Amino acid sequence: MGLKVFTHSADYYDALYRNKAYGREAEFVLQRLKKHGANFESILELGCGTGAYTKELARHCQRVVGVDFSAAMLRRARIKKREWKPELASRVTFRRSDLRTLRLKRRFDVVAMLFHVLSYQTRMRDLQAAFRTAAQQVRPGGHFVFDFWYGPGVQQDPPGPRVKRCAMEAGELVREATPAVFPKRNLVRVHYDFRFQPKGPGRVTHTTEDHWMRYLFRVEIEALSAAHGFRVVEFGEWMTGRKPTRKTWNAYAVAVRE
Ligand SMILES: C[S@@+](CC[C@H](N)C(=O)[O-])C[C@H]1O[C@@H](n2cnc3c(N)ncnc32)[C@H](O)[C@@H]1O
Repeated sequence: MGLKVFTHSADYYDALYRNKAYGREAEFVLQRLKKHGANFESILELGCGTGAYTKELARHCQRVVGVDFSAAMLRRARIKKREWKPELASRVTFRRSDLRTLRLKRRFDVVAMLFHVLSYQTRMRDLQAAFRTAAQQVRPGGHFVFDFWYGPGVQQDPPGPRVKRCAMEAGELVREATPAVFPKRNLVRVHYDFRFQPKGPGRVTHTTEDHWMRYLFRVEIEALSAAHGFRVVEFGEWMTGRKPTRKTWNAYAVAVRE
């Protein structure tokens, strides 16, 4: 995992995902947690990015700490937070840290990693470190909820090239994604090419980023959970809650800390 991901693209991130249903997705997560009797007064959100889920989660709990290692993503999160209602903003703290090594004194009712953050932990030791952090930071009996690229779906229907165009206030962004699958390592490298054409006479800005993604299988999630004191209580297809199939690309799990 390169530390440069989400550096340049942070400027474009919110525009690219402006139609993502963060509110509905946060509600889905909270419903799953409720189903398992979880308390969620305090949530630690690992890989919070520009804070879109953080804000939605904060509407339903007392305290959210959002952690990310990208200074550029956090800068945007903090700028946006200034626009929130003070009562909501007072429940949220952002913090720059690598989730693999993060250690906070306090423990949380819930640790959440949302929108493929787990899949950004590409080596086995990164995945183990992520679970170790979750285990350290959640209180006994608390919950860990996360989503990830689901191995059977990725294998069945490997990603192909995509182009996304996005109108922004200052111009137009074109993002080309060119994936390459590395099946022996359960990895996909997505090469992103960003071209931003400003309105008016300015020059096109061209940047690239490689995002390495680890797709995961149920057996791995269960083994990682068990090795770090968690028991998986739910494993499903993201946003439907159904049993994942070979058509499922995005799965989630809820685990309880024993
Ligand atoms: C796809 S974005 C998701 C951001 C946010 N959760 C959202 O849904 O908009 C993945 C985020 O995970 C962060 N991330 C990935 N690995 C990380 C690590 N080891 N430590 C901290 N942040 C990490 C990236 O910087 C990025 O902001």
